[in-house]
Amino acid sequence: MREKLEQLAKAMTDELAGVKTLAELQSFEVEKLGRKSEFNALLKGLGGLSPEDRKTVGMAANRLKQEVQAAFDAKKAELESTSAGALADAERIDVTVPGIRPPQGHLHLTSQAISEITAIFRRIGFSRVRHPEVDWDWYAFESLNMPGDHPARDEWETFFVDAPNDPKKGKMVLTPHTSNGQVREMEKRKLPIRMINIAKCYRRQIDVSHVPMFHQFEGLLIDRHVSVTHLKGVLDHFAREFFGPDRVTRLRPFHFRFTEPSFEVDISCGICGGTGKLEGGAKCRLCKEGWLELGGAGMVHPNVLKAGKIDPEEWGGFAFGWGVERTMAMKSGVRIDDIRVLYKSDFRFLKQF
Ligand code: DAH
Repeated sequence: MREKLEQLAKAMTDELAGVKTLAELQSFEVEKLGRKSEFNALLKGLGGLSPEDRKTVGMAANRLKQEVQAAFDAKKAELESTSAGALADAERIDVTVPGIRPPQGHLHLTSQAISEITAIFRRIGFSRVRHPEVDWDWYAFESLNMPGDHPARDEWETFFVDAPNDPKKGKMVLTPHTSNGQVREMEKRKLPIRMINIAKCYRRQIDVSHVPMFHQFEGLLIDRHVSVTHLKGVLDHFAREFFGPDRVTRLRPFHFRFTEPSFEVDISCGICGGTGKLEGGAKCRLCKEGWLELGGAGMVHPNVLKAGKIDPEEWGGFAFGWGVERTMAMKSGVRIDDIRVLYKSDFRFLKQF
């Protein structure tokens, strides 16, 4: 029996020497050292020996068991340390390697222009305001001195909303310009007014220089003793801030129903410097004789003030309304051949700005 035990112990130590993983070691422990192991079965046979033999064989058995246990513990320690090392090697992090920056988006070109325009006017005391982009005919036309049957309305290629009419304010429209904000601002009854209303506008139009949804910024100043020179000063200020220090505006007589007098505002061309000619005498291709057309402006018509319940004998003011897309397309460095590309969400275009 003693021999048997010794053989078994030897076989177990040999087997342990060949164990390569902690998982193998675990099954070894269950099979060979557990309660149901062969070794244990032999130990149970000790009871059938003579007291003499039981003592010597028992002592030998204990020693063998301890030897196997020691070999087992040594193996376990060895495997644990190498597996921890392997793990550490595999998961080593080099903290000195530069990080990977996640891709970062940026504001749309139009949003960037809106922020810039807002900031320029804020510095001279104009507050950015918001008014509805779906509004009543009254605010979009009627209160702006454009009666229902007036042909001037044709210019605005309006989308009408299929909604019940308001008995006083008429039909509902998608605002075709930001001028609807004028009388709405007057209704707040806070004078003087210095507002800049920037919003989406909608017209039935689409080609290289028009989109059905675009943006305008509308300036309105109402105060006492306001003259055209104030308007010109504000427009020149904007032109210098937005386009560059050497740019100026000019006012060309025009006609709008809601201003009197009315103007079209031009800005000196940034390519030919306002001369209309390039070096060598060729005609500038960007402008018309040195000027680019920016948008409309004028002195607020007394009828518009009356619609806003403001006394035109006491108060006066100026207004202007320009397209954001158009204005930014005229800034040098931004080349937009086809304005529709702004709203096609094509990253190849948008990523450039
Ligand atoms: N609302 C006009 C348009 O969309 C632009 C305009 C012209 C606005 C003259 C004004 C103004 O405030 O005074 O064409």
